[in-house]
Amino acid sequence: MERRVYLDHAATTPVDPEVAEAMARVLREVPGNPSSIYAEGRRARALVDTAREEVAAAMGADPSEIVFTSGGTEADNLAIRGVLKAHRPDPDASGPHLVISSIEHHAVLDTAEDLERHAHVRVAVVGVDGTGRVDPRDVADAIGEATRLISIMHGNNEIGTIQPIDEIGRVARERGVTFHTDAVQTVGILPFDVRTLPVDLVSVNAHKFYGPKGVGALYVRKGTRIATMQTGGGQEKGRRTGTENVAGIVGLGSAMRIATERRDGEAEKQRRLRDRILEGVRARVPAAVLTGHPTERLPNNASFCFPGTQGEALIVALDLEGFSVSSGSACTSGKTEPSHVLLAIGLEREVAQGSLRVTVGRDTTESDVDAFLAALPPIVERIRSVSAEPLSASAR
Ligand SMILES: Cc1ncc(COP(=O)(O)O)c(C=O)c1O
Repeated sequence: MERRVYLDHAATTPVDPEVAEAMARVLREVPGNPSSIYAEGRRARALVDTAREEVAAAMGADPSEIVFTSGGTEADNLAIRGVLKAHRPDPDASGPHLVISSIEHHAVLDTAEDLERHAHVRVAVVGVDGTGRVDPRDVADAIGEATRLISIMHGNNEIGTIQPIDEIGRVARERGVTFHTDAVQTVGILPFDVRTLPVDLVSVNAHKFYGPKGVGALYVRKGTRIATMQTGGGQEKGRRTGTENVAGIVGLGSAMRIATERRDGEAEKQRRLRDRILEGVRARVPAAVLTGHPTERLPNNASFCFPGTQGEALIVALDLEGFSVSSGSACTSGKTEPSHVLLAIGLEREVAQGSLRVTVGRDTTESDVDAFLAALPPIVERIRSVSAEPLSASAR
């Protein structure tokens, strides 16, 4: 069989075999509804409770502060819509109701846009510098009398830049504004402790740390005012009603526990592999432009732009040689337009079109990285020369 090298762990990770087995056991052996009070229901409820403890323990939270959701998107939606609904933004007060950054995931960005369009929510979008970092002073400047929520992500899914969420959180605290962070790319990968971080709401999803797709959680600090987005049977203390995805929640809990046990060793190993990619690409393709922060970045993320190329063409050519990588974010890679993140860090459209994201994971080896580094330069060269042809023809 053709050798495949999977280098797209920011898009999703394969399910840990122990997690898959725990989930399969639930599907086979636990038929009950957690809301039922007889034995089968109690067993399902106990599994959900254990998973809640595992997720809470990994973040230094209390289990009562964890709300299970269908993933990162729903957690982001619940945080933003839920807080703004609970506060009923005052249309007459000055300033925005919601402050976000220009490089948020679409789950935040499009939610803000939707609320602006249909719910009269005023949104301030704080820009980033060339490395993708938000300046906490800009967040402070954006806050107005009416501001009820700040939503700024922890680790960026495309360029890997890590935001100073402790400083942003302190700004939020000083001004009495609720602070949400989308930590989908960091919880389970980097230390994250709500006992020391000034955050009120945190989105996570399981499939970025070797758990199943379609399940996640929102951490809601005790005392945070948040309304529900769904109405129904009242599960999750009414915050996210609907019969629980028991197998998925068990998968989330065990994936979180395993990820926490392995976290520091994995981060160290992946950082070394990532740096091997960063240095290798710099040496072999001198025209490559590093995207994201040189040091404050996710341990698994190496991302670049190759001027004169197209990200989609790079992905297809690398796929043919057995490498799975992505351009921009997975959620937007179907579009040929450069992503909002690459434009927000100030790249020219032509440069941003040639973006490539390489993200390593638990099973990535040095030999995988070296094979990638050997395959990349001729592909970049070929695509660059093909892309240049029509240009020189039209110039004539
Ligand atoms: C930073 C970030 N937020 C939110 C999401 C959405 O997660 P999901 O699609 O699993 O709901 C993702 C997934 O790529 C992400 O990377």
